[in-house]
Amino acid sequence: MIICICHRVSDRDIARAAQAGCASFDELQFELSVATCCGKCHDCAHEVFHRHAAQRGTHAPPAECGSPAGSARVIPIAARHHHAATVPAVA
Ligand code: FES
Repeated sequence: MIICICHRVSDRDIARAAQAGCASFDELQFELSVATCCGKCHDCAHEVFHRHAAQRGTHAPPAECGSPAGSARVIPIAARHHHAATVPAVA
């Protein structure tokens, strides 16, 4: 199932990254660009990541995991400007 439409990231992609040792959601965002565009997938991607990272056995989900929809979203500054470098400069 596609979780992030903007970057075509599936739950399998997230699971694979989590089980391969991705250490944090920030790292997942860096690796897959998930939840770095519109951010609508953030809560779902976050939940999927922490569920699979917990199955790996070396990860404890953060307190905010499972928080109600509409909770604060933190998108790293670098990720927010993910497309900035691809936009051509206007002369
Ligand atoms: S659906 Fe994931 S950033 Fe838009």
